[in-house]
Order: sequence, then C-alpha cells, then structure tokens
Amino acid sequence: MESDDDTDHKEVGIQQKVKKYETKKSMNLFKKAKKIIPTGASSLMRTSSWDPYPLYIKSGKGTRIWDVDGNEYIDFLMAFGPIINGHANEKINGAVRKFLRNGSLFGAPSELEYKLAKEFKKFVTTQDMVIFALSGSDATFNALRIARAATGKDMILKFEGHYHGLHDYAAVSVEAPPPVSGLRWFPKSLPYSAGIPPEVMDTVVVASWNDLESLTKILKIRGNEIAAIITEPIMANSTVITPEGDYLKAVRELADEYNILLIFDEVITGFRVGPGGAQKLYGVTPDLSTWAKALGNGYPISAISGKKEYMELIGNGVGFGGTYFSSPISLVAANANLKLLEADDFAAYSHLGRITRRLGRGIEEICDNLNENIYVNYETGVLSFVFTDQRKITNYRESVNMDWNKYKGIQHKMLQRGIYYHPDGAERLPPSVAHTDEDVDKFLVAFEESLKEYNREN
Ligand SMILES: Cc1ncc(COP(=O)(O)O)c(C=O)c1O
Repeated sequence: MESDDDTDHKEVGIQQKVKKYETKKSMNLFKKAKKIIPTGASSLMRTSSWDPYPLYIKSGKGTRIWDVDGNEYIDFLMAFGPIINGHANEKINGAVRKFLRNGSLFGAPSELEYKLAKEFKKFVTTQDMVIFALSGSDATFNALRIARAATGKDMILKFEGHYHGLHDYAAVSVEAPPPVSGLRWFPKSLPYSAGIPPEVMDTVVVASWNDLESLTKILKIRGNEIAAIITEPIMANSTVITPEGDYLKAVRELADEYNILLIFDEVITGFRVGPGGAQKLYGVTPDLSTWAKALGNGYPISAISGKKEYMELIGNGVGFGGTYFSSPISLVAANANLKLLEADDFAAYSHLGRITRRLGRGIEEICDNLNENIYVNYETGVLSFVFTDQRKITNYRESVNMDWNKYKGIQHKMLQRGIYYHPDGAERLPPSVAHTDEDVDKFLVAFEESLKEYNREN
C-alpha cells in the first residue's frame, strides 16, 4: 500500500450479500466540514447528488478504495476519469517518489517536458504541437483564446449539455432546464453559475449536438462572428452519447466553410477511448484539442495540442503560463503513465475495451431478462446506463429524460454491496485498465440484486 497512514487494508472481500455499511465517520466529517468549507468539499461534484452525505474516501489501491469508516468498495468512478492505471499505481508512484528527492518545482524548462511532448505525439499522431497546463479548465480556456487570436473573431459556439470546465466561457448551458432553454435547434445561452457577466451569454452561442440542422442554421446566422466550435467528440458529461454517422466530419466541414477553428475537448476521451483519442477513432482532425484526466493518472496535468500555425501563436501575441503548469511531479507521473499505456503495442486498450463491453452487455442482459427499460451506451473506457423508455439517446435533451431517482436509488444499493460510482445519472462510469473480469462480475451481481430490490420496494 502506498499511503503512509495507518489504514488497515485487510482484504475483507467485496460483499455480495447486503451488509449494513456503517458510514458514521463520513456523516460526521460532512457535518463538520460544511461549517468551514462551503458545501463540505472543494468541488461541488463531490458532494452534489450524494444524499444525505458523501463518503469521505481515505485511500485506494488498484480498483479498490476505502472510506474513513474502513469500508471497502470497487471503484467505478475513478476520480471522474483520471485513474486509468489504477489507484496508487506502483510504477507511477515509484517514479514520483524517486524524483521527489530532487525537489518539486523549479520554474524552469525541464527535459521531462520535452520527453512528455514526444510521448504525447506517439499517442496523438494527428496533432503537430503540444503544450502542458494544469487542469482541463486551463486547457479549454486557453484553447478558446488561441482560436480567437487566430481568427480575429470573438464568439464561441458550444453545445447544450457539454461541460468544458467552470471558467466563464465554458459555464454556459451545461444544464438547461427545458422550460427556459429555448428552441431545440437554437437553445438559449444560459449561465451555469451566478456571477458570470451577461456579456458572456452574448459571446457564447449554443447549438444542439448531433443535430446538423441546428448547427447549419445557427452558422448561417452567426457563422462569420464565431472563432471556435468547441465540442467533446464523444459527449461524456450528459451520459455517454456517441456521434451519429458522419456528424463529426460534417462539423469539420462546416467549421472550414466559416473559417472557424474546431476544438475537440478530449479531457475525458483522451488516453481513454484509444491511444489517439476520439479524433483518431472517428478519423476527424480538429484544429486544436484539449486533454487532461487520463494523461496523469491522478496527478494534475493537462495539455493543449493542435496545428503548428495555431499553436505557434503562443508566445507570438497569445499569452500562456502558470506557476504549476507542467510541474516536474506531474510530468514524471504522466511519462510513467503513458509508458504503461503504450506497452505491448498499446495492449491496455484492448483490455479496457473488453472490460467496458462486458460491463455494458452485462447490464443490458440483466435488464432484458427483467424486462427493464434501459439505454446503455459505451465506447472503450466510458459507459453510461440510463433508465428510460427511449430506444436511443442522441443529445442532451433526450439524456435528461430519465428516471433519476431510480438511478440514485440503485446507486445507493450498489454502495451497500461494495460498488462505488456517482449517484448522478448524467455522470459516466469510466472503467480503468486495472479493472478485472472479477470486478465486472461483482458489479453485475450487485447490479442485478440492487435492481430487483429497488423494483420490489418501489
Ligand atoms: C470534457 C471536459 N472538459 C473539461 C473539464 C474540466 O477539467 P478540470 O476539472 O480538470 O478543470 C472536464 C471535467 O470534468 C471535462 O469533463
């Protein structure tokens, strides 16, 4: 075990029978923390939807995590996506530990950065240059700025329900309650938070995703004012929604027609759905891309990559930087992480693909046998299941048409059976390379039991 605390990680085994998991310490910590930390944790997603309180997680190893009360869970949240090679991965942490003898931060260029850029290009062969930052939000914020500088235009087009971080230009129509969200083809730009200047809503145009008619019509009206179209190539923040047919190719063509830069936000999909991200999978090359989560296996690092002509604007008019951008610790971790992912000709991805498929098909099969209406969608490393009567979900407005209470109720029962994931039905499950067939089997047994129990009670 990597952690230096005194946690006793006796392999207690995952419970397949319902056991009353005591979580009093989490409850008490939440009560105390809320008094001095607004909401009790430094990211709203860690506490929201967790009724009546979130679990405070103390440590992890591989696919297992332990809460402060000592309960063990198989983790299917994986820190919302970064932990692609498992918790406390010895190869990654060992490299970091070794480096720490040398210091932590120098405010100087580093050979490690050059090495990581070369590693990055082994994976992402579609992009000319790459530069590193700290978080996914830093990456999307800077990519939008580059696009504005490159085109001399100000407006951004994003899609309803897509999440690109919490900076002002991204925090628009992340959620869009139907009565106030406008027409389906021309959604209203809605602030995701108080405190965003109204001018931002005039600068960010919102379109409906997977819907060429919506994009075409909006570009006819505003296309000449738009600097960038930013999109996740697989929508992974409002359940998992894959692009329909040649949708991404058509978006690429429309962007070219209007001299707009196309930005793929691969913060979730990057290093997860395949070595070259979703852009490789779908054969569509954006002008700029953003990467984070699975790049660092939990160490904070993100990247912006793109065509040379746009990337070279950095330092030629476009400002860029941050004290902690590409810190040596994160560089060491990311280098070690990518080495693991590329071993044996990227074998990690066939394993991850198989694990994800088994999980997806297993959930479908259980629901088929129980005559349960569910829509399961997945691509390697990202999966969602939605309790809905709809046969298919292709965009945000369809994704919210689900039985949220059932999802949450079942998640609660899964916790009682030692399976951990987020209670919000919009969040995806991101299995990791560390997950085994046994982990999947345990998930499926717990899922069937939880679903049956929920249906009996409701
Ligand atoms: C697609 C996408 N882009 C950007 C971000 C923001 O990344 P971060 O939370 O590291 O700022 C996220 C975070 O979940 C994301 O899912």
